[in-house]
Amino acid sequence: MSTNNEQMVVTPWEVSGKIDYEKLIKEFGTQPLTPELLERLGRDAGELHPQLERRVFFSHRDVDWLLQKYENGEKFVLYTGRGPSGPVHIGHLAPWLFTKYLQDKFDAKLYFQITDDERFLYHDDFSMKEPSKWAYENALDLIALGFDPKKTRIILDTKSIDVLYSIALSVAKHVTFSTAKAVFGFQDSTNIGLLFYPAIQAAPAFLESALVGRNVPCLIPAAIDQDPYWRITRDVAPKLGYYKPAQIHCRFVPGLGRGGKMSASLPETAIFTIDPPSVAKKKVMSAFTGGRPTIEEQKQLGANPDVCSVYAYEYFLFMNTKEIEELRYNCLSGKIMCGECKNILAERVEKFLIQHQERREKAKDKYQEFLFNAKDY
Ligand code: TYM
Repeated sequence: MSTNNEQMVVTPWEVSGKIDYEKLIKEFGTQPLTPELLERLGRDAGELHPQLERRVFFSHRDVDWLLQKYENGEKFVLYTGRGPSGPVHIGHLAPWLFTKYLQDKFDAKLYFQITDDERFLYHDDFSMKEPSKWAYENALDLIALGFDPKKTRIILDTKSIDVLYSIALSVAKHVTFSTAKAVFGFQDSTNIGLLFYPAIQAAPAFLESALVGRNVPCLIPAAIDQDPYWRITRDVAPKLGYYKPAQIHCRFVPGLGRGGKMSASLPETAIFTIDPPSVAKKKVMSAFTGGRPTIEEQKQLGANPDVCSVYAYEYFLFMNTKEIEELRYNCLSGKIMCGECKNILAERVEKFLIQHQERREKAKDKYQEFLFNAKDY
């Protein structure tokens, strides 16, 4: 359980405690997404994504610079990714759905890195077999979201290392051990593979520029846990003659339990995209809510949507703005009970999974088409 006293930890490998996003902006040195910047983004995109309206995406670096470039006619590429240690949960889908919106609205190419190397190095008990199996399975989830096959390239680290390696080497040469220790908390016991790995995650930010031989702006949409990687990537960029990649950061979709982000390590509170829909439905029905001990009390006093995982799901992923405002009002005023709310979400999740799993099946035929191939350049 997460309490206010519990210390906040946000690293690429661990997210725990009560997350204070304002504090993260200060600690990580990022910028809040201001109303002016959102208006500009909406104008350039043609419409504002609900995740922007609701500040699910809440922070950035250099998005103003990126939009200036775009408004001057310079297109940008998108870059995001996945560490394939197991099945994808629907929390992971939040930044990917947003990336799809960016691809559609800005007609942008996407590089999607699947870090089978990172996951092999990080998990003591993994042979190379686990991450390669999940790399394929997780790629199907990405493809199932409807990304454009002509504009999307999946980079599987161990397969595409020939293209990544020379960029990663140039990055690595400019990152000292003391910086890496300070940014990632590496210790004497850390294996040396992990010490080099951040250079591999930095590489796709420069890939398009390296391949086409001129600077191309890059935008990285991801949750804020990945930020340490971008700090070193941005430090190194000017030394290599590249633009610094811009970032846009999202909050964490919570788990279905009390507090904490959705995490594969707590499977009973995470909805996986490969869960049988009936199993996912059961998980929703046992979710933690902000309800009162009795129905009478709830009718009289209302419930608390701000601690409710069911409300959070609707807020992050499903309901449109009018629906969410209505739900909030009904919850606070005691007009809707938790059982009813859970039922609505359970139906929605079931429907989503049935559809997504059908698309995942179809994605198997498209997998090869999405894979990065240096010969295309
Ligand atoms: P990974 O596999 O831990 O996470 C994949 C993406 O999902 C985001 N994320 C979440 N977003 C919302 N709610 C959650 N509960 C949640 N949990 C995870 C992560 O921020 C990430 O965007 N090292 C990376 C793989 C990677 C990558 C990248 C990610 C390589 N290059 C570029 C983003 C951008 C990793 O292990 O992600």
